[in-house]
Amino acid sequence: MAFGFFKKSDKKVETPVNNGPHYYDLKVKQIIQETKDAISIVFEQPVNKIAYKSGQFLTLITNVGGKDVRRAYSLNSSPFVDQDLAVTIKRVDNGLMSNWLPDNLKEGQTLKVMEPMGHFTTEYKNENKRHLVMFAGGSGITPMMSLIKSTLTQEPESICSLIYCNRDIDSIIFKDQFEKLQITHAGRLHVIHVLDNAPMNWQGYSGLLNHDMLIKLFERIPNWGIEKTTYLMCGPEGMMKNVDTLLAAQHIPKDKIFKESFVQGTIDKAKKEAVVASDEKKAREVTVKYDGQEFKFMVEPNRAILETALDLGIDLPYSCQSGLCTACRGKALSGKVKLDEEEGLSQSERAEGYVLTCVGHPMSDDVVIEIG
Ligand code: FES
Repeated sequence: MAFGFFKKSDKKVETPVNNGPHYYDLKVKQIIQETKDAISIVFEQPVNKIAYKSGQFLTLITNVGGKDVRRAYSLNSSPFVDQDLAVTIKRVDNGLMSNWLPDNLKEGQTLKVMEPMGHFTTEYKNENKRHLVMFAGGSGITPMMSLIKSTLTQEPESICSLIYCNRDIDSIIFKDQFEKLQITHAGRLHVIHVLDNAPMNWQGYSGLLNHDMLIKLFERIPNWGIEKTTYLMCGPEGMMKNVDTLLAAQHIPKDKIFKESFVQGTIDKAKKEAVVASDEKKAREVTVKYDGQEFKFMVEPNRAILETALDLGIDLPYSCQSGLCTACRGKALSGKVKLDEEEGLSQSERAEGYVLTCVGHPMSDDVVIEIG
């Protein structure tokens, strides 16, 4: 392929084996109010700079109501453009950390974070000539911002088209920044806003993104042909499904489409129940080897290995708890483990015995998992 977005099955961006995630205490340099309900947190790069790729995410760890909470937030900063690391957070109803942070975090404080991770990224090459067509919804704009800044500065012959869906005009994150980028990189960045509720004088698009609208949008952006075009999407689950269906109807090959989803607890309940129903319902003992220690505990059939460990106060690494980020990955040295969600692991990883403890259930009594 002429472009290099990594599928989750691509070995190149796996977390190194036998090398668990690193944690940092980062100083909050600045908090930017992006919209009424979205903030960006700018973290000061430590002296030993944290390396990351555009499109990756940071896992923030903080104590909310006496409990350590972790949430993954995509970086909006570009390692090529920005001096510091920045994530953007939008308030969501009942969002534990996404409401706690804007209400409580102050500039100058430090926050514990896990090293940048994620596969929604690409390698930049000066000679690349590609068209990135991006669909973003709400705070799903965050990784796109990072990718756009890197693409525009690192690949002089590549272009980006962004279709950005929001509730209303005041919900648009980075609106001014995109306007400036469109001027600085004239002809190389096309931004089209789609609003649910448009104001009277709105010149752009409004309403549900459907087949007819997509055709019109595609007429507004350059057509570089399928070989040179990559489609990216990040946003609410409903929007992603909708865009996926619309692109399939346009016969866009699946290997041209890359997605980033960050919905906590997205595991399909029916899938989870099916896993358990099809096997003997029995609590089983699991041994986890981590950080030079060995933990043995019983896991109930309807509970995941990670969930059980955390309830017992065993501090295993994790982030999304949805089988997506691989932060909880371990290798099953023996026994059988069933996963509710296998998307996060490549076929070769599965073949080698890797499992994700956040979505893993023991199916035999001899499960031993070693975590990096
Ligand atoms: S915590 Fe993200 S895959 Fe398990």
